[in-house]
Amino acid sequence: MTEQKLGLGIIGLGGIAFAHEAGYFEMGEVCRIVAMCDIREEEAVSRAAMYDAKAYTRYQDLLADPAVDVVDIIVPHEFHYEIAKAALEKGKHVLVEKPITVKSEQAEELIALANQKGLKFSVAENTHFVTAYLKAEEILKQGILGDIWTVRTLVAGSEVLRIKNPNLWHGKAPYGGVILDSAVHNFYLFKWLFGGVRDVLGFASRIVPEGEMEDNGLIFGHLANGAEYQLNVSCTMEIPWTERVEIYGSKGGMIIDQLADPVVKYYLGSNDIDGTVVEDVPFDPLGWKFNSMIAEVRDFVTAVIEDSPPRVDPADALYALKAAEAVAQSIEQKQAVNL
Ligand SMILES: NC(=O)c1ccc[n+]([C@@H]2O[C@H](COP(=O)([O-])OP(=O)(O)OC[C@H]3O[C@@H](n4cnc5c(N)ncnc54)[C@H](O)[C@@H]3O)[C@@H](O)[C@H]2O)c1
Repeated sequence: MTEQKLGLGIIGLGGIAFAHEAGYFEMGEVCRIVAMCDIREEEAVSRAAMYDAKAYTRYQDLLADPAVDVVDIIVPHEFHYEIAKAALEKGKHVLVEKPITVKSEQAEELIALANQKGLKFSVAENTHFVTAYLKAEEILKQGILGDIWTVRTLVAGSEVLRIKNPNLWHGKAPYGGVILDSAVHNFYLFKWLFGGVRDVLGFASRIVPEGEMEDNGLIFGHLANGAEYQLNVSCTMEIPWTERVEIYGSKGGMIIDQLADPVVKYYLGSNDIDGTVVEDVPFDPLGWKFNSMIAEVRDFVTAVIEDSPPRVDPADALYALKAAEAVAQSIEQKQAVNL
């Protein structure tokens, strides 16, 4: 550690890195951004200047910097494995954005390497820090909805312009399509709240011709308890990025909607027209992502400092990746795949 503070190195300075930076900035008493890396030199230099940090254009040089204790990897999917592996080999703690890697064998290797080296390794799966989902967890634990029978989810927004841009990675092989990008959030949620899924039956389509991968995905199956689920992901919906989850049980149903006010409401039976608003979930469509990311990086820094487990177990992010791989297999074979 430098100056008794944890030294942070950030690799990949695209849009979403700002939320991670905000989380570290809030923890300024215990950690400091000491190094920033991006292949776009101008961006690396200007962003590093904001924190009086060193700027790098090669991640290998950032990893060689002894002031860096923790590496945060926020680059396109294809590079997660290579950079995380190199960082762990250099003895750095690693937080990597989702999906953990693009292939499950790579993720298994990283988890084993981190364990062997005694390093903290986690995935920036912000889902586990979204206030609405934490409230949903409480309601489910209280049994207010009864036995869960049906779950429907939607993750949607638009990446059409980025897919059409030949210089960007979105929607291009080998970075993966919307199922790898977005369905992992919901499979992680299913593992956390419902113990996972039994099977997947996937359908995919490509609406934007410039894309090389699917930009819409529809997945059906059963949760661990036998309940039915439907999972819909899309990056061609011209609305603000949003998440919606509907959970229906033997006593009632709950609707969580990032763009609705109130955000979380449940209904107990067909006569319960008014329903119950779940308090303390502010309507804040932009803060949904931003604040949960701040909470997630704070959790990781705390885990490193206190030598405690981070909230996101990389094994659960691996589970989400395996589910996405099973969906790809299901689409190819045109049949359901058991997990
Ligand atoms: N948790 C979430 O909800 C969420 C939301 C958005 C993005 N993400 C994830 O964050 C990651 C980045 O996504 P983004 O939208 O910020 O992408 P982006 O394209 O905006 O940013 C990626 C940055 O990485 C840089 N880069 C690419 N290759 C590099 C390399 N080898 N070394 C150093 N820098 C490199 C690029 O120049 C760019 O600045 C992805 O894994 C994505 O899935 C997660």
